[in-house]
Amino acid sequence: MKKLVVGNWKMHGSRASNAELIQGLLAADLAATAPRAEVAVCPPFVYLADVASALQGSAIALGSQDVSTQTQGAYTGEVSGVMLREIGARYAIVGHSERRSYHAESDQLVADKAKAALAHGLIPIVCVGETLAERESDQTETVVGRQLQAVIDTLGAEVLKVVVAYEPVWAIGTGKTASPEQAQAVHAFLRGVLKAAHADASSVPLLYGGSVKPDNAATLFAQADIDGGLIGGAALKAADFAAIARAA
Ligand code: 13P
Repeated sequence: MKKLVVGNWKMHGSRASNAELIQGLLAADLAATAPRAEVAVCPPFVYLADVASALQGSAIALGSQDVSTQTQGAYTGEVSGVMLREIGARYAIVGHSERRSYHAESDQLVADKAKAALAHGLIPIVCVGETLAERESDQTETVVGRQLQAVIDTLGAEVLKVVVAYEPVWAIGTGKTASPEQAQAVHAFLRGVLKAAHADASSVPLLYGGSVKPDNAATLFAQADIDGGLIGGAALKAADFAAIARAA
């Protein structure tokens, strides 16, 4: 399977720093890696249109960090999949742990967002992951299994069109990466859950996210069920993000 490397810029950046970052990415000539790895960036909503024009004609795809369950209407503050498609987005991250925890997003809401994304032609990147307390009490599979099952139940066979990102909460922004073996074990479990629902689910890309850096990317991406990465901090430095894309 072709690898996928996605940069989640979170709430970082400015017009000036985005321009510099994109210039760096374009200069890194990621087109050379395109046959083996697709690359995408997910800037904050307000910068999507700017970034879309800056990336036009490049090999780098665009994604949003969230999407509404709704299409149009009186939903103050929301952004719909139709709007995101119109400005050129290909992906929409849904259910990032920061949204699950700071915005109380439930498993069902995340599944509904994934459904809305697909309905509007976006590929949802569905994030799942356990907290440190959940890992330490042996709840990892219960938690990520429950998060993924909500998406499977809501999407039916359409789940074959999503991307799943395993992001252990304890590894996000902490510098504590899951070891390749730890990540692979959870990915294999997620693959099993998907396959139990749909025999042909081996085509669903499973990304790992959580303190991926240029020096650990290659060993993570070499694992059997790790099909790429969802990158936070390192996606804000062109040289680091390009190195991670090359590692894929
Ligand atoms: P870091 O790479 O900064 O740990 O963030 C991971 C993440 O949350 C990507 O969505």
